[in-house]
Amino acid sequence: MKLYCCLLTAILCQAQGTTWREAAPLLDRWCNGCHRAGQVGPFDFTTYEGASAYAPEIARYIIGNKMPPWRAKPSPLAFSNSRAIPEEAIATILNWINGGTRPGTPTTLPKRNPQWNLGTPDLVVAQPTEHTVFAEKTVDIITFEVRAEELGSQLEDRFVQAIELRPSNRNLLHHAILRVGSTPIAALAMCDNGVRLPAGIGWKLPKGKSLSIELHYFKRNLRLGRDLTKVALYFSRQTPRRLASLVEITKADIRIPAGANLHPEKTSFAMTSNVQLHAVLPVFQLLAADVRLKVKGQRDFFLWIEPFEHHLMSSYQLARPLPLAKGEVLEAQAIYDNSTQNPYNPHQKLREVRFAENGLDETFRIWLTISQ
Ligand code: HEC
Repeated sequence: MKLYCCLLTAILCQAQGTTWREAAPLLDRWCNGCHRAGQVGPFDFTTYEGASAYAPEIARYIIGNKMPPWRAKPSPLAFSNSRAIPEEAIATILNWINGGTRPGTPTTLPKRNPQWNLGTPDLVVAQPTEHTVFAEKTVDIITFEVRAEELGSQLEDRFVQAIELRPSNRNLLHHAILRVGSTPIAALAMCDNGVRLPAGIGWKLPKGKSLSIELHYFKRNLRLGRDLTKVALYFSRQTPRRLASLVEITKADIRIPAGANLHPEKTSFAMTSNVQLHAVLPVFQLLAADVRLKVKGQRDFFLWIEPFEHHLMSSYQLARPLPLAKGEVLEAQAIYDNSTQNPYNPHQKLREVRFAENGLDETFRIWLTISQ
């Protein structure tokens, strides 16, 4: 209601005056990390022509609260990659559209690197060849190795401060897990416009070791698809004080009854050492509707995603690290909708669903980026 009144007043009072000069920086801030050439979103909103051609869609998606994708409810913690677009920004964009998308010259657009949201990378590594996901497959998981010689770590350890993914096919790549040996170190999803660790914290690429990059594809149709993913690495300028790694909260014995539309599964995870938490990436499939995470003993969930949108996944990066002491417990909960009300339910004939990463079953997996 509040949003509606604010929008209505703003639209009535200002619709006549708003031009592309005011709208462009807002689309740039809230949309163009994804909506420009080569990025995960369709359409390019960086130019007047590009944005005004899709003005009705922009209005519809903003009013419907479908874009930008950010489903975390207000939290006691702040997220550095929050896409919770402020009401005034929405009002200005709608004013521009309702006033007839008047032109004007923006003055304050930041210069973007054409390919990478985090700027020019220090190193780009890529899949050696394009990968084909065949028509009959929904989920396909492949791994490629990047040798120490390529990483420049054949003679000494190297440290990475930030990572960005760039699939060539935005409809296929779902998320990626980076490992050194068998140890997972970093996790990114297709809607992450890059993940950056705070200053003084880094991912270690140990001397002489290769990096393996596991790509999880999720195909939304029964057509053959191809992709070649690139990964940009940004090296730390100084040796970091703390090292980042990945821990997984998972529950393998989920059982989601056929037809259940609010089926909860819960698990908890006790810290095995004193750590700081930097980011959370929940990985679920088509039935998850609601995902929550909190510190045991505290009242509020610090992450509560509802609705969970499998096709718009991203990590949630904390603006300030959350200290978690050894023995402290995180409680995780997911609610699944295995009924016909769920438009994404892949089963026309409902059946019980268990843990499997295949597009037909479900997962319970939450990756935590921590440092110590
Ligand atoms: C984090 C990435 C991201 C951000 C930020 C984002 N979008 Fe999107 N947007 C997407 C993706 C991905 C899709 C495609 C959805 C799909 O494939 O189901 C999409 C789809 C859309 C569509 C529908 C396109 C169609 O196919 O009809 C519109 C309109 C849109 N976005 C507008 C916006 C606007 C306006 C903003 C900013 C206020 C915004 N988006 C911010 C990723 C993003």
